[in-house]
Amino acid sequence: MTALNLQYRPRRLRATPALRKLVSETQLRPEHLIQVLFVRDGIEEPQPIASMPGQYQHTLDSLLEQVEQAVSAGIQCIDLFGVPREEDKDADGTHAWLPEGILNRAIAQVRQRFGDTITIMADTCLDEFTSHGHCGPLSTDRFGQPIVDNDASVHAYSQMALAQARAGAHIVSPSGMMDGQVQAIRQALDAEGFYDVAIMAYSAKYASAFFGPFRDAVGSSLEGDRKSYQQDPANRREGLHEVRLDIEEGADFVMVKPAMAYLDIVSEVADFSPVPVAAYQVSGEYAMIEAAAAAGWVDREKIILESLTGIRRAGADIILTYYATEVASWLS
Ligand code: PBG
Repeated sequence: MTALNLQYRPRRLRATPALRKLVSETQLRPEHLIQVLFVRDGIEEPQPIASMPGQYQHTLDSLLEQVEQAVSAGIQCIDLFGVPREEDKDADGTHAWLPEGILNRAIAQVRQRFGDTITIMADTCLDEFTSHGHCGPLSTDRFGQPIVDNDASVHAYSQMALAQARAGAHIVSPSGMMDGQVQAIRQALDAEGFYDVAIMAYSAKYASAFFGPFRDAVGSSLEGDRKSYQQDPANRREGLHEVRLDIEEGADFVMVKPAMAYLDIVSEVADFSPVPVAAYQVSGEYAMIEAAAAAGWVDREKIILESLTGIRRAGADIILTYYATEVASWLS
């Protein structure tokens, strides 16, 4: 058989493992990953999260062990969510900013133990702390319809961010999708001298069914949905607008969330953002991989690495993921 007369044979560069590595365009390293962790008040033992096999609501002690493991694996940042006791939830979400609130106590303990060895990021949103599960306090509009009050929420986030900064957070991360939240938090932090505390803005966050398992993880009290504040999954231009606004308001990082179903947004944001771009591989993405792997339908390790590589390839500098420590230990 006569050989084809081809100008290009791209397969040449795929012939050996060394060659493939030589021309690999995307790197996945421990420092690209943020480990997301849950800490729950009033429990004696870590509680497994049914919808997220392998993930736990931690006690303060087991949280410290997890942070230790993350550090050993080469992780540079953790993101903490607090789960208060039912009796500590109220309509305003007060335990979000009380120093004795579970998240603030956890931040303080981790900072005391680990100092600057690992970067502590805190979730700055009220939904875990409110009795109704919404991301801010409720009020009524001029027709008497219930709404989540934007400006009152922003005021509460500022207090919460201050409490987190005082407890020792290096980064606060407003995830409530309220208008003006980044600017208000920046001003509140600066007014108390916390110039060094950074803001990771959940900029383009969509009202996503991929958050389903997370509601279980934080014992959410939510009924209904968040469509009046999180974005419509159909909207691309609006997502870019949200990102630009957050950058103007002073965001140190911007984030797209969820990741896998929104890689077009990640890619476009990466093209223009002057600040680092993060993407959040959310609970539903995790749960789908775990379920399919448990059934023996996919190769768990390969699928995890491929999903994270894809998010990096789309343009994310940083990925928030429940897999961070585990993947970092494979990589190193
Ligand atoms: C809300 C918040 C949510 C997640 C992170 N922060 C849930 C929501 O908006 O309903 C979801 C994270 C995940 O699904 O992994 N503050």
